[in-house]
Amino acid sequence: MIVLGIETSCDDTGIAVVKDGSLICEVRSTQEEVHKKFGGVVPEVASREHFKTLLPLYEIIKEKFSEKIDVVAVTVGPGLPGSLSLGLCFAKTIALCENVKIVGVNHLEAHLLACLLEYRYPKFPTLGVIVSGGHTEIILWSGWGVYERIGWTVDDAIGEVIDKIGREMGISYPAGSEIERLSQSAKGEIKISRLKMEGYMMSFSGIKTAALREFRKISSKEDYPSFALGLQNSLFSSLSTKIEKVIEDYQIKEIVLGGGVAANGILRNKVEEICKKYGLGMMVPSPKFCADNAAMVAICGYDKTLRGISDDLSLDYRPDWKI
Ligand code: KG4
Ligand code: ZN
Repeated sequence: MIVLGIETSCDDTGIAVVKDGSLICEVRSTQEEVHKKFGGVVPEVASREHFKTLLPLYEIIKEKFSEKIDVVAVTVGPGLPGSLSLGLCFAKTIALCENVKIVGVNHLEAHLLACLLEYRYPKFPTLGVIVSGGHTEIILWSGWGVYERIGWTVDDAIGEVIDKIGREMGISYPAGSEIERLSQSAKGEIKISRLKMEGYMMSFSGIKTAALREFRKISSKEDYPSFALGLQNSLFSSLSTKIEKVIEDYQIKEIVLGGGVAANGILRNKVEEICKKYGLGMMVPSPKFCADNAAMVAICGYDKTLRGISDDLSLDYRPDWKI
């Protein structure tokens, strides 16, 4: 089965082909440079960029791969309405012209299924942890296509906090990898308070405020690395506490990490330590598959098609679609 995946939920445009569950080719174009000057993603600008980029990317894919496709998989939510609608419109056009099936994909499910690009199916019950610029979610993944969202942030996502603090520090959007790089030369750590919240729910705006307070006390750029380390430790330790709680409550067998922030080495190490402590398996995609990409959409479309799920041309986009 050959699946063409399309991703346009935020500021990355991607198209990929998966054949019988293996990634064959993938192209993507990031809008980071365009949004940098605004300090974050401007929805209207993002839509226009997708509009400009989709067809050229599709032409590149057609040059690389000429076999007939069977299914078009497209992200239909959650995400920016304008961006989602452009990807969906493009996907419907391909489905019509090629006379193939279409399947709508949930972006968060795709982040979890990105693990299938490099690993195997996890052992259930699995704990899915999605950490990105728009989401921080804890998902109980208890069977093939069976997900339950059990914890999420009630305000800022972890990536959002990192990007906002990064802006204060004069780091351009998105700030995650630069903040991680800075922290690698830290000689100490500026401690930032951690999340104190019962249950699986999370809130990171308090950490953001505490971090800004600490940042304003800094008088020299020499302290930036220690600050960057303190910020990440605060955010990721808070998340780790929740992860441990779910492991203890649900007899979890494996952890799957996904989303742009999952590229972060400090977070990966913390989760690895937890897995060692509890004797669990761990799957984290390579950094390129943690960030938004179409390969994860194609593999998710493949998985859904195997499960007998498909849509028709009345498929609509769902900006607030929950997993
Ligand atoms: O999944 P993604 O590509 O897009 C969304 O769906 O949001 O995630 C982007 C987020 C940004 O907030 C970016 O700063 C963060 O991922 N990020 C990182 C790292 N690389 C990207 N955060 C921390 N450490 C990194 N190495
Ligand atoms: Zn994402």
